[in-house]
Amino acid sequence: MGDRMEGKVCIVTGAAQGIGAAYACRLASEGADVAIVDLTRIDQAREVVAAIEAMGRRALSLKADVADPGAMGEMARTVVAELGRIDCLVNNAGLMFDQLTATWEQFLAVNFMGMVNASNAVVPYLWEQRSGSIINISSTAAFPLPLSGVFTAPEDAPAPSVFPHGYGLTKWMIIFQTREMARTLGVRNIRVNAVCPGVTMSPATKAVVPQAIVDRLTEVSALRSTLEPEDMTGVVLFLASDDSAKMTGQTLVNDAGTWFTG
Ligand SMILES: NC(=O)c1ccc[n+]([C@@H]2O[C@H](COP(=O)([O-])OP(=O)(O)OC[C@H]3O[C@@H](n4cnc5c(N)ncnc54)[C@H](O)[C@@H]3O)[C@@H](O)[C@H]2O)c1
Repeated sequence: MGDRMEGKVCIVTGAAQGIGAAYACRLASEGADVAIVDLTRIDQAREVVAAIEAMGRRALSLKADVADPGAMGEMARTVVAELGRIDCLVNNAGLMFDQLTATWEQFLAVNFMGMVNASNAVVPYLWEQRSGSIINISSTAAFPLPLSGVFTAPEDAPAPSVFPHGYGLTKWMIIFQTREMARTLGVRNIRVNAVCPGVTMSPATKAVVPQAIVDRLTEVSALRSTLEPEDMTGVVLFLASDDSAKMTGQTLVNDAGTWFTG
């Protein structure tokens, strides 16, 4: 427990469970009141709300679709009405559980436009108060690694189809948009940064990422490790707090040293 977020109000999308829930709890442990936004998994937010309230902080659980700009506007109005202000938005909602079945249109609507919609809903408040931090959760999937040996096709296999890789592409788009938003919003002291988690052992990862890929990524990581959701929270806390007061437009990779940025 600390006080780096004392008096601040944070919104974390996709925080009913998984890594988002860990972000919400860590921000609360440093003094923030937190709004948890989620859609189909909103019932799981009860535990997160209870954990935050047990720390003596206020928590709000809101069912809303990040893909719906109107719902995001309503969400931001409710947060201000109930918690008084907004200081930080963590755009964490994404199609992770559904990444094997989602279409390009769904990835675009949730992973990318969800981040745009939630940001547009919150920015007018940050603009007015001339401060704020937006943290966009990207992924190291934005930078594909050559994982030779995981899937070896037999010599006589048919030519593969080429298709838009919706998950990775939308995570890549988030990095571009983060830089664009940082330039547009910096004039009012609104900071925008991106975070790329590596393989993090959330329930979604355990459900959908094949063990062979987890093992291979662990092998090629400098620290020979995957991450737990709690391992991601320090980076987000840093970007949310005044510790990063002069940092904007940046992308922080936290992946046990699997992908080295140049
Ligand atoms: N787990 C990993 O290894 C990993 C790695 C890199 C990046 N990420 C990213 O981190 C974030 C969290 O990952 P996770 O592993 O906890 O996955 P997760 O699927 O458990 O978390 C995403 C949350 O977003 C919610 N959500 C989905 N669609 C929504 C919508 N339309 N509106 C509101 N909420 C919605 C889900 O209900 C879920 O609770 C995701 O953006 C994911 O892409 C995860």
